[in-house]
Amino acid sequence: MTRKIAIFDTTLRDGEQSPGASMNTTEKLVIAEELVKLGVDVIEAGFPASSPGDFTSVLEIGRLAGDRAVVCGLTRAVDADIERAAEALKTAKRPRIHTGLGVSPSHLKEKLRLTEDEAVERAVHAVKLARSFVDDVEFYAEDAGRADEDFLARICEAAIAAGATVVNIPDTTGYNLPWDFGQRIARLRNRVKGIEDVTLSVHTHNDLGMATALALEAVKAGATQVECTINGLGERAGNTALEEVVMAIRMHGAELDAHTDIDTRRLTQASRLVSSITGIAVQPNKAIVGANAFAHSSGIHQDGVLKARETYEIINPEDVGAGGSQIVLSARSGHAALRHRMADLGYSFEDAEFEDIYDSFLEVADKKRLVYDEDLVAIVNERKRTETALWRLAAVQVSCGFPLTPTATITLLDEKGKEHKEAAWGNGPVDAVYKVVDKVVGVKNDLSEFSVKAITRGIDALGEVTVRVISEDGRVFVGRGSDNDIIVSSTRAYLNALNRLLAAEREQPIEQR
Ligand code: KIV
Ligand code: ZN
Repeated sequence: MTRKIAIFDTTLRDGEQSPGASMNTTEKLVIAEELVKLGVDVIEAGFPASSPGDFTSVLEIGRLAGDRAVVCGLTRAVDADIERAAEALKTAKRPRIHTGLGVSPSHLKEKLRLTEDEAVERAVHAVKLARSFVDDVEFYAEDAGRADEDFLARICEAAIAAGATVVNIPDTTGYNLPWDFGQRIARLRNRVKGIEDVTLSVHTHNDLGMATALALEAVKAGATQVECTINGLGERAGNTALEEVVMAIRMHGAELDAHTDIDTRRLTQASRLVSSITGIAVQPNKAIVGANAFAHSSGIHQDGVLKARETYEIINPEDVGAGGSQIVLSARSGHAALRHRMADLGYSFEDAEFEDIYDSFLEVADKKRLVYDEDLVAIVNERKRTETALWRLAAVQVSCGFPLTPTATITLLDEKGKEHKEAAWGNGPVDAVYKVVDKVVGVKNDLSEFSVKAITRGIDALGEVTVRVISEDGRVFVGRGSDNDIIVSSTRAYLNALNRLLAAEREQPIEQR
């Protein structure tokens, strides 16, 4: 049997640090459930001291996960952070506190203004305090990739002696060459006392496009946990992509003496879910989960694949849940067929909720001849988006054309269900719609991006609109909306972004930040 490599997912913490990827608690719970089904070992659910929203998310995800996964909360090596994390992890059956500090010369001198001795003292104190609350404590040595190796070994050894059960060696800035990072891990394994008794974790960033390679070299050198995110979301250029590292380990398990417990057939579904919730699109040529990952375009390649798939495909698309089933629903499909297809896609619903989903499905099916998996995912996501919305769309009507002045009339419902009807004109129909929404909702923002894409094929495809708005205090909020009618999608997307902005302001008003 090969070594088990634990998969530590940080989509909900480091992934959420991607600009525009902020999620509310309901959205995080949906992703957490998918992570559990995917089989991740650890869910880093947030940084509880950073905001009331993160605190609640960690609390709720602890409840949701039960004993199906370790639930982890990040802290600085600061007493108040650790106490807050312990409080948030009260609901978790398998809680872990992830604490630590910067260990490279620039982190010590410029950021923390600590001597090496003081840093060791602070690390030991933090680990001991965290251990007084939970049995499972992970120590991170931030920027370990650029740290002096003697000091790195010393602080890791001290953290282990203080009770750390996991030691995390991050290449925070993605600076290393993979083989150098691997050697650093191998040397730490050889010299740090007690390291063989703890989980040795790596957390690598993609600044040079090598996050996955860094993680794999580390696994080869003895790391037993990899920290990663779905779609490689994360600070700056992102983190190690979960789907990449998992599939590389699966393909080269014998050589790496490694395996994971991830259900790889859920990877595509997990990727789509995270993309649709965060509004961050997956590049088409993204390894494993990109739309083109299994597309063959040149004649020579197509000929080869038709003769034998392996000529140009190293992964069977079905192994990662791609390639899809050929089952397509239509307006004639009944409840059982829809429920069955939804279950295949990983969704289950209470009866009342399912009835609403079925009604939305029929609405789409009446306008479109065939309803594909992507349409079903869009229906579910649209429902999830409106479930928690402060403002909802009741009606939108536009008149436009040449030489008309585009005008829009919209009815919105506030959270108490009260109708607000307004009209406005604009430079185009979408501009007119957004002016009306601004009039009613009245929240200051800058619209920085607007894009439309067809979710499925054909002229009757559902159109999905993604917008990005920037709040007064400079935060980015992404909104998405889908419908057969592009004006409806545009209105929904803008409302979705504003609802997120308003929800974030409720959690933490601007003046408190
Ligand atoms: O990149 C990093 O070093 C981190 C730590 C907080 C683990 O995200
Ligand atoms: Zn990170």
